Amino acid sequence: MNTVQGSDGFREAVLAGLSVRPRAIPCKYLYDAEGSALFDRITELDEYYPTRTEIALLAASGGAIAERVGPGARVVEFGCGSMRKTRLLLAALSGPSAYVAIDVAREPLLLGARRMAALFPDVAVVPLVADFTRPLALPPDAMGGDGPVLGFFPGSTIGNMRPDEARAFLRRAGRVLGPGGRMLVGVDLIKDPRLLDAAYDDAQGVTAAFIRNLLVRANRELGADFDPATFDHRAWWNAREGRVEIHLVAGRRQRVEIAGHRFAFRRGDVIHVEDCYKYSPEQFCWLARLGGFESEAVWIDPDCLFSLHLLVSTGC
Ligand code: AVJ
Repeated sequence: MNTVQGSDGFREAVLAGLSVRPRAIPCKYLYDAEGSALFDRITELDEYYPTRTEIALLAASGGAIAERVGPGARVVEFGCGSMRKTRLLLAALSGPSAYVAIDVAREPLLLGARRMAALFPDVAVVPLVADFTRPLALPPDAMGGDGPVLGFFPGSTIGNMRPDEARAFLRRAGRVLGPGGRMLVGVDLIKDPRLLDAAYDDAQGVTAAFIRNLLVRANRELGADFDPATFDHRAWWNAREGRVEIHLVAGRRQRVEIAGHRFAFRRGDVIHVEDCYKYSPEQFCWLARLGGFESEAVWIDPDCLFSLHLLVSTGC
């Protein structure tokens, strides 16, 4: 298994993000080991419907997906996490030939890739340490064979990008996948704001701990002296923008020192951490078209909570 090393840039992102207004730290830094463990707990919460709904959708539509994609597929996943959904997808496809797993977190990726290689001995598993939000090239030998190519981007991770970023990401993915390449994307649907607010501010406070972990991580890795407990987690549905916005709000005045730099917060100052865009099926088809893909099929669960889009690259 060959790998390509990527860079992280957490320090630069924190220093730059706290120096501009509005303050913002990119959500990809939520996923250190601690953050990934907290996110796994989020996926088990009653309020957090996306994971279980998408897994049920994948299980229910696996046969239809396999039929459209055809045998010998080469699967490329953008951001792998636990690979739980990938297992379902590879098991549903007919005789997949390769699995290229792209993720920034090196150790979990290598561990997951070894597990997948053991579970699917006929699939060539290629882990690739890289940040899929940046321009990306597959190593020349990563995509051997000539089976149909299927990008996989579950979890509504695409919702963490602004629509213009999502469009640019789809264009880059289209180039990686090649002409005629397909892409299976999990997209969270617009729904009752009460369900959305609860999903991102659960009663047990697991989401709040997940978001605050960004400050805990800054303390741990950058020697910062945040008092994370003094920052409140705020998440709400912004209907006009079509997104759940997540912020940390300073509960009192304070100074924080990070890697020799000082930052002042007044009570009520906010750090923007994450946006989670939600799309109607029509809105997402439109976005996909702007990103160079045509919608081939859409699957939606009976409660209309989540959607799976199968897209085909149009090459234009
Ligand atoms: C990992 C992007 C799918 O947006 O629902 C969950 C991240 N943030 N709770 C999402 C998240 C707060 C999650 N994704």
